[in-house]
Amino acid sequence: MSEVKESWGSRIGLILAMAGNAVGLGNFLRFPVQAVQNGGGTFIIPYLISFLLMGIPLLWVEWAMGRYGGKYGDHSTPFILDNMTKKRMWKYFGVFGIFTNLGVMAYYTYIESWTLTYTIKSLKGDFIGMPVDQVGSTFDQYVDLASNINTPVWAFIAFVFTLALNIYILSKGLSGGIEKVAKIAMPLLIGFGAFLAVIAITLGDTGRCIDCNSLVGLNFLWEPQFDSLANPKVWLAAAGQIFFTLSVGMGTIHCYASYVKPKDDIALNAMSAGWMNGFVEIVLGASVVIPIAVGYLGLDWVKENAGFMMAFKTMPFLFDQYGSVIGVLGGVAWFGLLFFAGITSSLAMGTPWMGFVEHEFGWSRKKSAIILGVVIFVLALPTIFFFGKGVFDEFDYWTGTVSLVVFALAEVVLFGWVFGMDKGWKEITSGADMKVPAIYRPIIKYVTPLFILIIFISSLIKPLNGELSDWATAFNSLMAGDGWLWANDSIINQMFHLNTGIIWIEDGVFTNMFYIDLSRFLLILTFVGLMAMVAIASRRRRMKA
Ligand code: PHE
Repeated sequence: MSEVKESWGSRIGLILAMAGNAVGLGNFLRFPVQAVQNGGGTFIIPYLISFLLMGIPLLWVEWAMGRYGGKYGDHSTPFILDNMTKKRMWKYFGVFGIFTNLGVMAYYTYIESWTLTYTIKSLKGDFIGMPVDQVGSTFDQYVDLASNINTPVWAFIAFVFTLALNIYILSKGLSGGIEKVAKIAMPLLIGFGAFLAVIAITLGDTGRCIDCNSLVGLNFLWEPQFDSLANPKVWLAAAGQIFFTLSVGMGTIHCYASYVKPKDDIALNAMSAGWMNGFVEIVLGASVVIPIAVGYLGLDWVKENAGFMMAFKTMPFLFDQYGSVIGVLGGVAWFGLLFFAGITSSLAMGTPWMGFVEHEFGWSRKKSAIILGVVIFVLALPTIFFFGKGVFDEFDYWTGTVSLVVFALAEVVLFGWVFGMDKGWKEITSGADMKVPAIYRPIIKYVTPLFILIIFISSLIKPLNGELSDWATAFNSLMAGDGWLWANDSIINQMFHLNTGIIWIEDGVFTNMFYIDLSRFLLILTFVGLMAMVAIASRRRRMKA
């Protein structure tokens, strides 16, 4: 079917692009916050187990599915899935593998644009000598947090510029665009990360409070504690982080892998990119924000205040405390690193759409990219203008969290049970430059689907705060006839607003829920639109055949 010939330029380029896909804002903003909120060292064990039992298997499955699809000219999940089965409904399931990317790309590109602005601000020395409150309020003004409807002029301009840059690079294709960017961005990112880690460790003992020492922060994150193994809440958070950080369950890996040659290795490539992501997350991601903040503000402050805004509201101030030279260099390295991490990921999110429309509808690269730009622009508007209403989190919840689990569950079942492990294992191991441990065959077939199924069901019905005791309380309540006690972030409660009821207008003004549901409607519309495109593409295929 392919009208546009695409492929990767070199193996190292492919690995860097794949690592760039995985290494993103998730590694530097999401991971440290998740780790702190889930008890630091208590997070790390469920995280590592999720990586081994779910992350690695999914990486192999997705690379294998991608390369398999590529042989038949399929570059996006609807038709990759379609080709692996006889049932027609699978291709509609595959819509997740485009939809998720569009939804995440919308809010992700917005954050990416902040990092660009903040790199420039740091370079200009804007934060030199600025008190911490003012650094915080600078950010609030930047996103116009105080207004009812946020209309941030500069943030909007920066967003449009960042999106245009992404679109321009995507229009240059894989080897001419994405691969070139990854080859520059990834080494710089690692360099900046190492520089910041060295600052954190060497200068981080400020002695301003009893435990104001960056090593206390590192120790908090890294010292494994086994008591979390019995805490379902920590497991859910850890598994969610594995999904997001590895970009699995999204359809991006399938798309990248669909452009490798049929005989090329995928087993070792998948491991190289996956472990590189792990290194950047656990070593670099953990060595920057939290240790630096602990060095200045102490562990208790960090535990209380850790949130992803810290990166923008606190870090510039902290760097400045080491003097204006490090203030500027640290700021540029930090926000520059975030920008590079972000752009190599947002580019990846654009590719499933590109692969889909180029190959199904024969659109040129330029046309595909421009229309993508329009779609992302529209999707991002609510996250910008209704930022303060919680729309941003709404996007992240459905497209960056729930969808990944649903899609991953479907694809491992498809791979191990419908396509079948005999063929599946052959797909993973053929052309492999490493010996894939045989234990992964039963893991992929039984353990991974079961693992994801448990994660999914627990997220559906998560009670209260999700701790073990909350499950017991909820069961007792159910048995006593008082009904289940839904956690606010359980999927069922989010879907139906059970805990609060549906309230769109209160005292004559629209509630946050109204804006949230409105944006949800936009997401549903996107999904349905993509389903329609798949139906049309499918008819075109039948007519050609
Ligand atoms: N893995 C990326 C991160 O850690 C996010 C991402 C999600 C990238 C989906 C591509 C696709 O930030």
